[in-house]
Amino acid sequence: MSSKFKKIANLSELSTSKLMRVKGDNYDLCLAYVEGAVYAIDDLCSHEEASLAKGSLHGHCVKCPLHGSRFDLTNGQALDEPAEESVQTYAVKIDGDDILVQINE
Ligand code: FES
Repeated sequence: MSSKFKKIANLSELSTSKLMRVKGDNYDLCLAYVEGAVYAIDDLCSHEEASLAKGSLHGHCVKCPLHGSRFDLTNGQALDEPAEESVQTYAVKIDGDDILVQINE
């Protein structure tokens, strides 16, 4: 399986205090813009069926809207129960206003 950087959103659409869900044919991501850096993690919580982009942003953590587990945006690690497994993180590049994320093809 190969992976390449793909444009998925514009930086100007991404607010610093909000999460954004971006869905495509082979990806479903939650984006966050924190302290000048953009992070991309899987949108689906590792616990049950919840969209992390509907949760809240606390520094470098995303809090799941359903049961409140927090995930570290930098490494995807679950920081509280009930979630025990990490969510996948993706490499991000910024090119002008383009947000590019490394996605498996
Ligand atoms: S669905 Fe996210 S913590 Fe339960």
